[in-house]
Amino acid sequence: MKKKERAVVLSQECIATDIYSMWIETPDIAAEAIPGQFITLYTKDADKLLPRPISLCEIDKENGRLRIVYRIAGAGTKEFSAMGEGDQIPVIGPLGNGFTRKEGKAVLIGGGIGIPPMLALAEALHAEGVEVSVVLGYRDSDLFLKEEFTRYASVYVSTEDGSVGTKGNVIDAIRANELEADTIYACGPMPMLRGVKAYAAEKKTEAQISMEERMACGIGACLGCVCQSTDVDGHSHVHNKRVCKDGPVFYAKDVTL
Ligand code: FES
Repeated sequence: MKKKERAVVLSQECIATDIYSMWIETPDIAAEAIPGQFITLYTKDADKLLPRPISLCEIDKENGRLRIVYRIAGAGTKEFSAMGEGDQIPVIGPLGNGFTRKEGKAVLIGGGIGIPPMLALAEALHAEGVEVSVVLGYRDSDLFLKEEFTRYASVYVSTEDGSVGTKGNVIDAIRANELEADTIYACGPMPMLRGVKAYAAEKKTEAQISMEERMACGIGACLGCVCQSTDVDGHSHVHNKRVCKDGPVFYAKDVTL
């Protein structure tokens, strides 16, 4: 059940160019959240700006805290980046469906600002005794969050400029390192998710993909997030799904990318 809370900022730091990490105190939302879900944060000027959906990077149920890692992408996220300890933000969550955790070898794939939600998932799978490998795709050698993944997983990196790890994309890194998976979990930009879907089909492996980069308002108000599904909606008889309501996590085979 989603809750509305006034989250209190506990700490904030800039961890890469335009990328911020913030811990917030939200006991009710943290108690229910699972990896892959998101929250929406409201700006001061809520009349002018839609709330901003942001994924959960870490879920600390014991202390009632959530960590979000986000990129400045407009006025709303710029406002959040200026906040510090003690500031309050109205927040709604947890929203969306999250990842369905499976047994067997897991390969987690994160690209760009799709990397943060994979940290919460890596921690949860590791705690359940699952063997986890993580493949992180970056533009260059600014490897935000990479070290934190090493607590829970074997970590592999691809960079577009070849400065670290495999030169190319995340699929190039999977092939170069001969990684095998029973389940693939991924979050990142659309070209990456297309590559993951094709790779999973080739290997006959189940893939769950988070399409959160497609979201705008996160609350069903803008319809900017509609994607095509392979099955027909029983109610409206169309192939449409809203990422913010029906996702953000889908089985790759169920959506047209
Ligand atoms: Fe606005 Fe889904 S993100 S309707």
